[in-house]
Amino acid sequence: MFSKNFYITTPIYYPSGRPHMGHAYSSIIADIFARFKRIDEYSVMFLTGTDEHGLKMQREAEKKSKDIKLFCDELSSTFKDLTKTLNLSNDDFIRTTEKRHYKAVEEIWNRLVKSKDIYLSKYNGWYSVSDEAYYDEDEIETKDNIKCAKISGSKVEWVEEDSYFFKLSGWQDKLLKFYTDNPKFILPLSRRNEVVQFVKKGLKDLSVSRTSFSWGIPVPKNSKHVIYVWLDALTNYLSALNFPNTEDKKYKRFWPATVHIIGKDILRFHAIYWPAFLMAAKVSPPQRVYGHGWILSDEKKMSKSLGNILDPIAIIKNYGIDQLRYYLAKEVSLGNDGNISLESLTNCINNDLANNYGNLCQRVFSFVNKNCNSKIPSFGKFQSEDTQLSNEIIKQIPNLKKLMDNQDLNLYIKELINFSFNANKYFNDLEPWSLKKTNSERMNTVLYNILNQIRSISILLYPIIPDSTNKALDILGVKKEDRVISKIANLKFLKPENIIKKANILFKKIENDN
Ligand code: MSP
Repeated sequence: MFSKNFYITTPIYYPSGRPHMGHAYSSIIADIFARFKRIDEYSVMFLTGTDEHGLKMQREAEKKSKDIKLFCDELSSTFKDLTKTLNLSNDDFIRTTEKRHYKAVEEIWNRLVKSKDIYLSKYNGWYSVSDEAYYDEDEIETKDNIKCAKISGSKVEWVEEDSYFFKLSGWQDKLLKFYTDNPKFILPLSRRNEVVQFVKKGLKDLSVSRTSFSWGIPVPKNSKHVIYVWLDALTNYLSALNFPNTEDKKYKRFWPATVHIIGKDILRFHAIYWPAFLMAAKVSPPQRVYGHGWILSDEKKMSKSLGNILDPIAIIKNYGIDQLRYYLAKEVSLGNDGNISLESLTNCINNDLANNYGNLCQRVFSFVNKNCNSKIPSFGKFQSEDTQLSNEIIKQIPNLKKLMDNQDLNLYIKELINFSFNANKYFNDLEPWSLKKTNSERMNTVLYNILNQIRSISILLYPIIPDSTNKALDILGVKKEDRVISKIANLKFLKPENIIKKANILFKKIENDN
């Protein structure tokens, strides 16, 4: 199980293109886990940033005749803006062009030289600039006379140049042992199996420097070479903790990272190269790499040429950020590819947010406003139907924590939808509007109990829809520091007589005419 410190990262993004739904997805998922751990009172570090070196960036800048550093500044700030648009709670935003990052990468390089894991030779082979990855002959296919990487479909080009190599071949057995000793290092399990099979087939040494372009971190003591962009980029997870200062508070608290959230396309880099680099450099590998699937549109990978791109920024403008966050988290089964569409987005907003959680808040708050003088009513003795409702959540808390520790986000959301559904049902079944005429004390107790249930559900839904749940918790007068899981078990938390502020609709229903 995790310690009380929690360090989670997103991949640092290539800023060359416009932010798309895949970027939004990786970030939102990581943000949900970070926020969950904060309400579980962990010390959390959540990192994102931009990956700015490499041939891809150099060529883009040349194409646009821009100064490369200024070009990176501009592009990186678009991604920094994205963190605000997505309402990410990241604690830091790292850029690989920063000084602190250079220091960390140089140290890793020097350690690899010292451990004799690096040697100088010549690279002859295929390289995809788009993936910034080397491919073997059997990983290449020809399509319309163009050589492409089978795995990504990206164009490859032939490279012949002097290069330093990392002795990856020597790490095969140690990696396999590491996977066995840490069975949850790679999740989901299907991806773990994929990686284990790949490593079992044997590993080749990896080219880790380039001489045919200059946009990168120079190799210490041989600046003809720049360090391979993936060795550079992966090290960002350490630079943000002020590595190589291993006495630094952040480093001591947060390394090894709890979990790197990544897309399945960059699994090999994170699950094979990264632990091998780290073990060679005598740094502990991270505790987990979680490889999520692809976001598809109309069952296909989103691409400009197919015209099936759903732009996250446009969707947020039209539907709202919490709506997009909830939809992506609920609709896409985290480890698998998931299809998204405007139609299912609308259904999800209407069914789960407007009709279920939103409706629960709306009807209870309005009823209390009208019938209890806008005040939290005082309560009498709880009856079994009351405690049954609240216990449903309390009993599930250990399980909910476990689900989130295993990145079982979809099951977590399913439980919450159920809680909200059952709270609506409780309100329907107990009919406070009838009790008003027959037994106002009982009505008050029922209302108190359901207000408390809204508090619990809102705390647990907060990681997914932070803005909306904060509005509900504001209405209930729950202080920021009390919006934590440990306070859920207190069924008498809300203060009778506190004002229930007037509520605006949390989630508007979307008419199906878009
Ligand atoms: N710069 C590297 C990561 C370096 S981490 C040390 C990179 N950047 S990226 O911008 O191309 O991709 C960032 C993330 O977005 C990756 O995790 C990738 O898997 C994810 N996605 C990009 N398109 C995607 C979808 N269509 N669906 C889901 N995620 C995908 O890779």
